[in-house]
Amino acid sequence: MKLFLSAVAIFALFNGISGLAGKAPTKVLNDGNKIPTLALGTFGFEDIPKMRSAVNYAIEAGYRHIDTAALYDNEQEIGKGISDVLKKGLVKREELFVTTKLWNDKHARDQVVLALRESLAKLGLDYVDLYLIHSPEAMNEDGSPANIDYLDTWKGMEEAKQLGLTKSIGVSNFNTEQIDRIKANSKTVPAVNQIEIHPSNTQEKLVADCFARNIAVMAYSPFGFFVKRGEGNKPGNDDPRMVSIAKKYNKSVTQIVLRYLLDRDLIPIPKSTNQARIQQNIDVFDFHLTPQEIATISSFNKNTSIFS
Ligand SMILES: NC(=O)c1ccc[n+]([C@@H]2O[C@H](COP(=O)([O-])OP(=O)(O)OC[C@H]3O[C@@H](n4cnc5c(N)ncnc54)[C@H](OP(=O)(O)O)[C@@H]3O)[C@@H](O)[C@H]2O)c1
Ligand SMILES: *[C@@H]1O[C@H](CO)[C@@H](O)[C@H](O)[C@H]1NC(C)=O
Ligand SMILES: *[C@@H]1O[C@H](CO)[C@@H](O)[C@H](O)[C@H]1NC(C)=O
Repeated sequence: MKLFLSAVAIFALFNGISGLAGKAPTKVLNDGNKIPTLALGTFGFEDIPKMRSAVNYAIEAGYRHIDTAALYDNEQEIGKGISDVLKKGLVKREELFVTTKLWNDKHARDQVVLALRESLAKLGLDYVDLYLIHSPEAMNEDGSPANIDYLDTWKGMEEAKQLGLTKSIGVSNFNTEQIDRIKANSKTVPAVNQIEIHPSNTQEKLVADCFARNIAVMAYSPFGFFVKRGEGNKPGNDDPRMVSIAKKYNKSVTQIVLRYLLDRDLIPIPKSTNQARIQQNIDVFDFHLTPQEIATISSFNKNTSIFS
């Protein structure tokens, strides 16, 4: 019995999990912190009232990583969900990984810490695990462009980390040139770049550039056009190549898309507020795609961004 238990403990350790384990393995960031390799996405203004239950469903299903942003206006609801799961004893704070983001109208160096404190108050937390600059584009409150260099914003991010308000700092929607400017002019290299990646926008070059700089990559809008999104985008859910891979592994096409991203060492952020889909989206850690299947899905690339 003892032997069996320690074998289980070693297995758990090996997988980077413990206790009421999360389902996603973790990856070590360039600052030594560990990040769970799949996160719950939470963007959608009409879904704000559903985010508290979505967080509960997600933690119960084995998620340990939640992705939000000041922009999403849902940090308060997410905070309630986190408070629920902590009270229920499903997880301890240190087993959770919470990511939030600095919005474009708070890029001035002295606004960064204040903006993070505001997010923390809404989330009901005293630190987040990862704070990202949402975009390199600085804006005024009216949305007009502001003349603030993201190198100054990054200094504010470093201050937030020094104060212990976030464990790790990173960027989102940055290209290689912008990352290299930070690298050349700062003490801290971003731990993460969060960018749009899915089968119609595979981003091989930017991903390779990030990996070459030891920067982890989070993949947003991971389902691309494999979920309902605009008209006439192909390939879609009924693509025969995807259906055949899905059949082989007894998985859905959307699960194959997530596995494709995981097998490329990316950290997908599937968003759902529906309990069954939240469960399905993390049930992707019991199989791998072959290099051939990964190449087939990568061949769908059209460099098509959902947001432009
Ligand atoms: N950094 C950035 O600039 C940035 C930009 C965009 C997004 N993000 C982050 O990335 C997350 C994900 O991106 P996203 O929300 O654009 O798109 P997504 O996660 O690729 O797709 C979400 C859509 O797919 C549906 N869906 C989820 N699971 C499904 C399943 N198993 N089968 C069928 N449909 C399913 C969802 O509906 P239901 O909810 O009804 O299931 C929703 O309509 C965001 O929520 C946000 O956290 C970041
Ligand atoms: C296929 O997947 C479904 C849903 O996850 C499961 O209920 C079923 O037992 C699986 N079938 C096989 C043959 O593994
Ligand atoms: C996508 O962009 C890359 C890099 O610019 C280019 O090499 C490739 O041909 C493009 N693919 C498509 C399908 O447009």
